[in-house]
Amino acid sequence: MYAKIVQTEGNEPSLLGVIAEVQGKQTLKSTIHSKRCTKRLAGRCRILPINRRRERILPFCGNSPSQVKGSSLRLKNEVMNMMTRVALAAFGATLFMGSAFAQTIELPAPSKTGGKPLMEVLNERKSTRDGYVNEDLDLQTLSDLLWSAYGFNRVDKRTVPSANDSQEFSVYALLNKGAYLYDARGNALQKVADGTYRDLLANQKQPYVNDVPVHLVYVGNVSKSKAGREGMLMDVGFISQNVYLYAASKGLGTVVRASFDGRGLAKVLKLQPQQTVVLVQAVGRVK
Ligand SMILES: Cc1cc2nc3c(=O)[nH]c(=O)nc-3n(C[C@H](O)[C@H](O)[C@H](O)COP(=O)(O)O)c2cc1C
Repeated sequence: MYAKIVQTEGNEPSLLGVIAEVQGKQTLKSTIHSKRCTKRLAGRCRILPINRRRERILPFCGNSPSQVKGSSLRLKNEVMNMMTRVALAAFGATLFMGSAFAQTIELPAPSKTGGKPLMEVLNERKSTRDGYVNEDLDLQTLSDLLWSAYGFNRVDKRTVPSANDSQEFSVYALLNKGAYLYDARGNALQKVADGTYRDLLANQKQPYVNDVPVHLVYVGNVSKSKAGREGMLMDVGFISQNVYLYAASKGLGTVVRASFDGRGLAKVLKLQPQQTVVLVQAVGRVK
């Protein structure tokens, strides 16, 4: 039996799944048996210390299960023992990480049907800067928006393409109630900081920013990008276009923006050195 830790798109590596191989057949197990447990582990638990100690557990590179055999770890039927150890260590890490990660917004399942016909949506896609209403989006809209931007629409593939299937982005949402990391697997938002941070979004030059309730922040990880920085610049276009199309379908306002304080945002979002804020995108209801 083989097993492999799968890394999520988040700021910190997290336990997401185990690819097991039994008698030559590989399956992606959605980890530790219960969805609730998966969410808890994927969302909050750092397994960096475990990775460090267990050098042979390799980070997930976006390969399909059939491609990972060479980097799998032989466990001699001890998968369950390992899972138990991981779960215990992750629980300890959760306690250690304190209140910044204590708040999770569980999102309703994204509604994957409906919306306006594509040709109407294309006809209505546009950038909006005026008339925003600074009211929080309801959770269903938030869930659908984030799923459109960067959710999974297959076991390990997303609503957007990426060069060499790098999947090198993390999507953060700056809401009125704080800054959150989108956990696409767990369908949740994990709080990373309190505050609204409009001052880091060039609100002095573009005051409409203050009236927008949701600012999506697209963070690329160059060490995950198999096509380097250029790949990141291309991949981000698909994410923002999906959001443009979702907004047009729902009659929301949106505008993608390159005006922001990248260093300031990196500090607030606690980004790693290899992570960069590539673009931000404002989304909200309009009068
Ligand atoms: C990479 C990129 C960066 C942009 N940055 C900003 C920005 O900082 N502020 C802004 O108001 N609009 C920004 N925009 C939006 C463009 O101004 C807008 O797409 C353009 O005026 C065309 O309008 P349309 O989107 O309604 O077709 C940006 C667009 C792109 C693609």
